[in-house]
Amino acid sequence: MDQKPMEIAKRAAGIKAAEFIEPHMTVGLGTGSTTKYFIEALAERFKNGLSFRCAATSTASESLAKSLGLPLVPIASVSYFDIDVDGADLIDDEKNMIKGGGGALLREKIIAGSSREMIVLIDSTKRKKHLGGSFLPVEILPFGSNLTINKIESMNLRGAIRLREGRVYTTDNGNFIYDIQLEDQLSDPWGLELSLLNIPGVIETGLFLGYAGRVIMGEENGSVHIY
Ligand code: A5P
Repeated sequence: MDQKPMEIAKRAAGIKAAEFIEPHMTVGLGTGSTTKYFIEALAERFKNGLSFRCAATSTASESLAKSLGLPLVPIASVSYFDIDVDGADLIDDEKNMIKGGGGALLREKIIAGSSREMIVLIDSTKRKKHLGGSFLPVEILPFGSNLTINKIESMNLRGAIRLREGRVYTTDNGNFIYDIQLEDQLSDPWGLELSLLNIPGVIETGLFLGYAGRVIMGEENGSVHIY
């Protein structure tokens, strides 16, 4: 078992989140290193007899859930989620978030947007007063991506196409990610969201504004703070 303080914090948040799952819920499984602990804890609850169904926000989380025997259902059979549990890269005092560090932002937003509640799992390093000073992942269509990037850059934004092992990274949806380097304090996240989504070729952004419900923040001593 990994006892690094950060892993203790993430695991504590994941284990606590699994306690929120009630019988017969439809559960969204988020993506990332924190949500992994939630999925593992949920698998324990399933083994102990809790009945629920779930669908995942990425092929990675789906594979993990499958390997643990969780009751996955096709997304096409779900009309709403009772609860979605996911991580965040940054969350501000108003619970607005930046997500997509793991490239799963589009599926994450689709599921979060059709959930009665999105529970967000963080460690204390993710919590900031304001959004900014980080990358903002934007999923863009490969076709004409140079033109889409020109449009983004014409908004006085700079960034880079995400690479993995020297090649252009592609999402589970076959798209590219353009990581915008944000100013230190994002003055108008809602305006930025609307402007980016207005560009043809931009499929989704990692700004999750108004999505978060309860936040479970894991601490390095293994305690959690819920707010
Ligand atoms: C996946 O694309 C992301 O949105 C993750 O949910 C987010 O990056 C948090 O991941 P970690 O828990 O690994 O930090």
